[in-house]
Amino acid sequence: MSLLKEELERNLNKPEVDKASLRKVAWVRKDLLGLQELSREELELILSTAESFKEVISREIKKVPTLRGKTVVNLFYEPSTRTRTSFEVAAKRLSADVINISTDSSSVRKGETLIDTGKNIEALKVDIIVVRHNYSGAAAMLARNVHASVINAGDGWHEHPTQALLDIFTLKEKLGRIEGLNVSIVGDIAHSRVARSNIWGLTKLGAHVTVCAPPLLIPVSIEEMGVKVTSDVEAALKEADAVNVLRMQFERDTENAFPRQLEYFKNFGITVDRLKHAKKNILVMHPGPINRGIEISSEVADGPNSVILEQVTNGIAVRMAVLFLVAQAHDQLRSKARTRGAKKI
Ligand code: MLT
Repeated sequence: MSLLKEELERNLNKPEVDKASLRKVAWVRKDLLGLQELSREELELILSTAESFKEVISREIKKVPTLRGKTVVNLFYEPSTRTRTSFEVAAKRLSADVINISTDSSSVRKGETLIDTGKNIEALKVDIIVVRHNYSGAAAMLARNVHASVINAGDGWHEHPTQALLDIFTLKEKLGRIEGLNVSIVGDIAHSRVARSNIWGLTKLGAHVTVCAPPLLIPVSIEEMGVKVTSDVEAALKEADAVNVLRMQFERDTENAFPRQLEYFKNFGITVDRLKHAKKNILVMHPGPINRGIEISSEVADGPNSVILEQVTNGIAVRMAVLFLVAQAHDQLRSKARTRGAKKI
């Protein structure tokens, strides 16, 4: 039995995991494009798989041979520090080969389309493409055009599934459950793919989500996603078990309509004073990058309620789980296609 299988087996035998539901669900998706399309069982499967990998990355030797012989390409059309590095570390911990392509120094600068770039990467016998793009839907479009697995590392304002998964993983690790938790998301909701993925994931897992921002930064009809909406930050903090603080995405403010930075901090910034309105043990989360003194004060970001750096660590375990699951599904699809005598994928 492989190391990972042993890990997973041990995990399935832990009493706190619902064995029945885990056994019922199999991961069959070659891609991870968003949390909107995932079932509760699929979300739970990713989270429980990540628990096994969290144990792996806590060992002295933090590496398993699970993806030996596979190649992962990180194709990033937007800047990233945490997400790109985290995918790279995750893939290396699984013994995959990793190649990073930054579009600043690639043929994209010469006008190559995303699909052409993807097909060329695939022709290099790459197994998984992790893509970040400034257009919503770019990851899905790439996935429809290549046989390789595609993982969405953030597409425009649409979704950032692995960020939400690591946020949810951290909440569950700290608070023991997701069902029934009150989670407030405070910040630039309108432009945030992190907010959208968190809302899909948290509501499917039974959490109560409140979003809080100035009216201009709240998307029309967001209530239809099953969330409460407020522009009163103290009200958003009052009942919350956790607050996920979002950055103002000034780079997406094409109409120059955002509140000025100081004005935003005064009215919405998460400060020690504001946390006096919250539960004493409220978890403070942030996907990064943090803008100190705009959406959060340094005292809170570095304070006792903050789990921001733990989120970063958990990102590795969650991304290992996602890489593992899509690679496994891809192998199964390929062997089914071979059995049917279909065109080799
Ligand atoms: C993102 O890529 O969306 C980040 O993780 C959050 C941000 O940029 O504010």
